[in-house]
Order: sequence, then C-alpha cells, then structure tokens
Amino acid sequence: MPPVTSLTAHVHQRLATALTATLPEPAAADPLLRRSDRADFQANGILALAKKAKANPRDLATQVVAQVVTDDLIKDIEVSGPGFLNITLTDRAITETLAARAADPADRLGVPLAAHPGTTVIDYAQPNVAKEMHVGHLRSAVIGDAVVRILEFVGESVVRRHHIGDWGTQFGMLIQYLDEHPHELDRSADSAETGEEAMSNLNRLYKAARTHFDSDEEFKTRARRRVVDLQAGDPHTLATWQRFVDESKVYFFSVFEKLDMEIRDADIVGESGYNDMLDETCRLLEESGVAVRSEGALCVFFDDVKGPDGNPVPLIVKKSDGGYGYAATDLSAIRNRVFDLKADTLLYVVDARQSLHFKMVFETARRAGWLNEDTKAQQLAFGTVLGKDGKPFKTREGETVRLVDLLDEAIDRATAVVREKAAKMGLSEEEIVENGRFVGVGAVKYADLSTSAVRDYKFDLDQMVSLNGDTSVYLQYAYARIQSILRKAGDARPVAHPELALAPAERALGLHLDQFGELLLDVAAGYEPHKLAAYLYQLASHLTTFYDQCQVLSDANPPEVVENRLFLVDLTARTLHRGMALLGIRTPERL
Ligand code: ARG
Repeated sequence: MPPVTSLTAHVHQRLATALTATLPEPAAADPLLRRSDRADFQANGILALAKKAKANPRDLATQVVAQVVTDDLIKDIEVSGPGFLNITLTDRAITETLAARAADPADRLGVPLAAHPGTTVIDYAQPNVAKEMHVGHLRSAVIGDAVVRILEFVGESVVRRHHIGDWGTQFGMLIQYLDEHPHELDRSADSAETGEEAMSNLNRLYKAARTHFDSDEEFKTRARRRVVDLQAGDPHTLATWQRFVDESKVYFFSVFEKLDMEIRDADIVGESGYNDMLDETCRLLEESGVAVRSEGALCVFFDDVKGPDGNPVPLIVKKSDGGYGYAATDLSAIRNRVFDLKADTLLYVVDARQSLHFKMVFETARRAGWLNEDTKAQQLAFGTVLGKDGKPFKTREGETVRLVDLLDEAIDRATAVVREKAAKMGLSEEEIVENGRFVGVGAVKYADLSTSAVRDYKFDLDQMVSLNGDTSVYLQYAYARIQSILRKAGDARPVAHPELALAPAERALGLHLDQFGELLLDVAAGYEPHKLAAYLYQLASHLTTFYDQCQVLSDANPPEVVENRLFLVDLTARTLHRGMALLGIRTPERL
C-alpha cells in the first residue's frame, strides 16, 4: 500500500494551486498552513504574498476562496481577520484518511519513507574499557538508540558504531599487572559471570595496578614498556589487553541490557580498531599540507580557535613523542566511515563538552577532502545531566553517579508505583516486576529524550515517575487504558464509519493522529527525538479530552458509534506504541 497523504498535505496542495492561479504573476506559493482552534486549519501565508504582489490581502484571500471548491475534503473555507483563511474539513475525510492509516499492512500507519535516504554512520554509546559507566554515558546511549530507530523507520541505511575507549597509555599499567598476576581474572568455566562481577574485578585490578605504579619505580618502567609493546602489536601484550576488553564487554552488555537496549558486538569498533590507519592518516595530512610540524608535533591550525592568551590552539594529530591521540583516531575513523562504509552522513552523539574537538576534526577532514558538500559530519551534541540542585549530578559523597545505580533506583521507584495499582488490575508478581522495569527505564529514557538534546536537564526521579504530566508513565497508562477498553469491548470491534458525524474531541484526536507521518519525517531530518516525545504527549492529552467528552463503551451509543470510537482509540494506541518504540520505550498491555 502506498504511504498515506496527510490531510494537511492535501489542503496545502489545494491552496497552493488556488494561490498560484490567483496571483498576478505565477509563482510557487506557500499558504503557510497551521492547525488552528477556530477551524481545523488556518492559512497565514496570504499576507506576505499579497505584500509582495502589492495586492490587498483581504481581496487576494477572497479570490483564493473563490478558486477552492468545497467537496468531500473541504467543508468550509472563509476569510478571516486581515487576510487569513479558516478551513474546516469534512468528517468523512478525517475518518477515511485514518482508516487508510489503520489499514497499512506493514503497520507503518501510512508513514512515508524519506525522499532521499542515504547511509548514516552513527557513533553512540561509547563507554571506556576498564571503567564504570556513569550518568554521562546515559545520554549518548539513549539518544543514539532513538535516532537509530527513527532513521531506520524512514528508510535510512544505518551503520552503528560504538567507539569505545579501548586504547591508550592507561592500558600499560593494567596489562603489566595482569601479566604478573595472571590468575586474577580467571573465570570459572561453569558459572556465567555477571556484569557487576566483571566490573568489580576490573576495579580491583585497576586499584592494585595503580598502587604498584605509584609506589614501585621498576613496575612503572615495565608498565611504560608495555605501552610501546601494545602499540607495536606484540601478540602476548595484545592477548592480555584483549582480556580487559572482554571483561569490560561482559559489564557493558549487562548495563545495556538493563537499559533495554540492543547493542551488537559487531558494531563495537573501538579506538583500537583504527590503529592500523593512524600512520597513513598522518602521512596524508602532512603531504597535503593540512597538518604541519610545530614544536615536534604534527598539528592543524585554525584561525578561529585560540587559547586564553590569544595564541592559536592546534589540533594535535601526532604528539612530539610520536604517540597518537584521540584526534588521529577520530580522523582515521572518518576515512573508514566515508571510504569503506560509504556513508554520506556521519553523526556523533557526544557530550557538548567535546564540541571543540569535533569542530576541529571535521574541519581538518574537510580540508583533506574526506568530507564535503555530499558527505557531511555532524555532532549531535548533548547537554549535562544535573542534580536537583542544578549542578552536575553527583552522589551525596560527591562522586560521579554510576549508571546502574541510577537505573536500579528508577526501577525500584517505578515498581512501587506499578504495585500500588496492580491489585486492582489483578497483575501477577511477575508482571509487576516486568512492568516496573519497563516503567522505570522508560521514565529515565523519556526524561532524557523529551528535552532537546543540547539542553541540560535535572534528573528528578519524583517527577519522572509521576502519573501526571509529561512523563513516559502517563503515556504508558494512556496506552494500557486503551487496551483495557478493547478487552472490555467484547464482540464490538474497531471499525471506521466515515458516514458518522464527529464530535469536536474526535476531530481533534483524529487530526493529530493524521500528523504522525509528517512529524516523523521532520524528527528524522533534524535528529530531534524530543519533537516525537512532544507529539506523543499531545496525543495522550487529546485522548484524555476525548474520554472526558465521548464515551466509548456506552449502551446509549448506537453500535456504529461504538465501533468508530473503538477504531479511533485503537489507532491512537497503535500510534502511541509505534512512537514509544521509536524512542526505545515499552508499552505494557496491562498496567
Ligand atoms: N569514549 C568517549 C568518552 O567516554 C566518547 C567517544 C565519542 N566518540 C568519538 N568518536 N570520539 O568520552
């Protein structure tokens, strides 16, 4: 089935044609159509067009109205104010369009694919080996996962890359220590290791290695030599390094599972994955003159990047001691993503505090010709998670908050909320536990996704698990309530009846449902999941008004009204479910 054209698009087309025919000089004309409370839509574009054509806006509006035929789509069109148009649609057009959305066999709800899909490599969820995941790693994972789902839904080819921190001088000390105490990471073959155990092993090793490093000069020397061995690819050193990576992955996967997020091993290509490219990256930059030698280091300079003393701050691609840093790796990753993975868009879901780094890296890649008009890179920068006091989120002891602790607390709180209502619903203990997870993790994700990514936000669990307001729980309850109505409906099925007149609350709900497709294309084009969250919240609010004003299962309703209202709430539930799934949030059937 072809994608469903929205009512907005239909009306837009009608008005644009009428405008072009009316204007003294033919031109493409945008009627600037908006949803409106007075009628279904208001067109505000005539004012500006009249000014350009030196015409009277009310006259022009009147002429446009004369061109528009009222029919099955447009019930009424009239001039208002200085030259606005108020447009009211027929009830039939609304119900028929929604019926077409509901009938979409692929369960896409009639959402079209993007006009020009391409290949996007998205760099997100990038924790560091042998280190805890903390609240800072939450945002990249949550936003990245939502953007992946949204892009794939509109037809983009997406390659996921988890650029984990698995390389660098810090590993010398760890490798040397483990080599000297090889049994400290022995795993028992029979019992699978938990993520918590893996992390506690890594913490213990890290502390022990650190103590040796700080107190024993000879160990320090041996550890430094290990860095050189690692970079040279010495097999034994690499094997020991690999044990740290594997142990960390056990931990990462356990955290991602708690986050209810699928991370695939094949998509984990850490900093180490670009090691073989670093030499050539530097050679290419130096030969092309993009990078120059400065005080022994290989550097790229920018006119607009200066330190506090007014001197230029370069991007260092290779240090004076010959070592490569973070920038060389990112530049090599760009070459891989553009030339091997054939991406036309590179997206980096990374903390806004790394914006200068990416600005310099992208500019360097452009000068080198690796990025251009057709192959673009963008940082999807996100802000900081703050505590209730408005300062960067810390534990009471002033330490960084571990991601698992934060999720566990959210799940505990949510389970308490779910339990309170559970008795009435007759939920089993198993269902309570599962719903507690979905509600708790959903609350954390939604709070993160419902503010625009660049902004900081306060981590406030009381607010996040509240049943009222702009929270995921509110949306999850809206969904579950519909499912409960559908269960109670007995033999009555959701069936659209285009011949029925609609109540105002039904029209408002229906017109909002019809916007889903256009909204998603917009969300995908701008990488803005927060707009999807806002849309879903409005959808649930329309639903609440609908319940207030229209009874679904009432004996007073003729059967076709019951069917049509069941049809409306069923499509609302499917839209909520689809939208929440695109945000990575579950919608339990019974809550
Ligand atoms: N591992 C880094 C961190 O924890 C983030 C990596 C971001 N991605 C990149 N391509 N540099 O800060």
